[in-house]
Amino acid sequence: TSERSNPSGSASVLVASNRGPVSFGTADDGTLTLRRGGGGLVSGLSAIDDPDAVWVCAALSDADRRAAREAPDGRLDRAGHEVGGQAVRMLDIDPETFARAYNGIANSTLWFVHHLLWNTPTAPAFDAGFRTEWQAYTAYNTAFAEALAAEAAPGAAVLVQDYHLSLVPALLRAARPDLRIGHFSHTPWAPPEYLRLLPDDIAEAVLTGVLGADRAGFLTRRWALAFADCCERFLGAEVHREALTVTYAGRTTALGVHGLGADADFLRERAHRPDVDERLATLRAAVGDRRTVVRVDRTELSKNIVRGFLAYRHLLRTRPEWRDRVVHIAFAYPSRTDLAEYRAYTDQVRSLAAEIVAEFGTPDWQPLILHVDDDFPRSLAAYRMADVALVNPIRDGMNLVAKEVPVVSDRGCALVLSREAGAHAELGEDALSVNPYDIVATADALHAGLTMAAEERTDRTKRLAAAATALPPQQWFLDQLNALRPGG
Ligand code: G6P
Repeated sequence: TSERSNPSGSASVLVASNRGPVSFGTADDGTLTLRRGGGGLVSGLSAIDDPDAVWVCAALSDADRRAAREAPDGRLDRAGHEVGGQAVRMLDIDPETFARAYNGIANSTLWFVHHLLWNTPTAPAFDAGFRTEWQAYTAYNTAFAEALAAEAAPGAAVLVQDYHLSLVPALLRAARPDLRIGHFSHTPWAPPEYLRLLPDDIAEAVLTGVLGADRAGFLTRRWALAFADCCERFLGAEVHREALTVTYAGRTTALGVHGLGADADFLRERAHRPDVDERLATLRAAVGDRRTVVRVDRTELSKNIVRGFLAYRHLLRTRPEWRDRVVHIAFAYPSRTDLAEYRAYTDQVRSLAAEIVAEFGTPDWQPLILHVDDDFPRSLAAYRMADVALVNPIRDGMNLVAKEVPVVSDRGCALVLSREAGAHAELGEDALSVNPYDIVATADALHAGLTMAAEERTDRTKRLAAAATALPPQQWFLDQLNALRPGG
């Protein structure tokens, strides 16, 4: 039968991402413990009430790999794990291949190229080791494409996420031309002048990989157009910038723009639970009646934490009236610590914070409070009390902190926002925009935020919250799914 010649599964909607909705740890007694993740994709997927939906993700740790191995076909739900509304298939990829693909290519190469992060005199250097990593990235993408091909029902919709999986759309199309395939980039897209730092064959593979999709989605028009520019320049593809389409090798890929918004219902409820109130009381006690500048990020090179601290230091140096009247609360959670660049950056963040405390601190006033452990309720508490939120990435696909703060702010909060964050396209009018490289301008914006009249602050916060929640995660997800449907 046709089923035998073209083996297919029963899932009508599939999502693929490197990081799945759950992760595992090992308890002292050796049993697996499960932890649920958050984020737009998790809330987005909750919008589909489809028993035949499957989420395919990678095992990221030894505990994950064990959970994946112990589950029939890697299906965590079939092993009785509480993974959420849908089925989850976790791929047990061998640790060396995974590390080369995730650390070497996804995070050290593609993340760097899309966020313009290289200091080019020494990096990148595409040596023989890089070629081995690229092979691993191809194998890892192939493992995803094979799992999706096996799980997908005829004509199913598949939503492939992010730069980890840029080869999957083309690989999957080759195996299963019946599927409707979407790809979504949660990052910016590199402009041609930067993408051309990659070896030619790699740049081409990434572009043609994504073009395997029927639709390639981006968080802003700016990133969609950068992708189109690269396709035109490196592949000679035909690009329609108004219609947002790219035609290459006889097929047309539609580009979509879906500006993921904050999940207002979830945030407002979560931000008023007792654990958040407790942390709010602790933070308030530390701050007293001083003003607060708040930032919350992964300790991530693109987040520009060091320049943010330099701007705060410049503020205290040049406007002494703020001494003892403001506290900078900075939460910088560990991220990608397998990479030397991230470890070095973490050290830089810590030592600059210590320098600022040493330069200005008094027995009664700690000018900067830095926490480097992950505590979501504490972040929400800081969001609620912030007078100024500082979001100054060098470049960011969207930046959800910028969207979350106005939603949960208790008394209104001025938002200092980098013009290089995707969120700036939607929030720029009511934020205080900054060039993230300009430390003096950032300090001026902090001052403007700290001195903004209460009424103006409240008005702006209301408009920011409305813009930030215009496209809730559930609708963001459904829009992409609907756009993939025939005639969509
Ligand atoms: C960005 C990426 C996501 C990624 C997240 C956390 O938002 O777009 O794909 O999951 O960072 O990074 P990590 O490497 O910890 O998954």
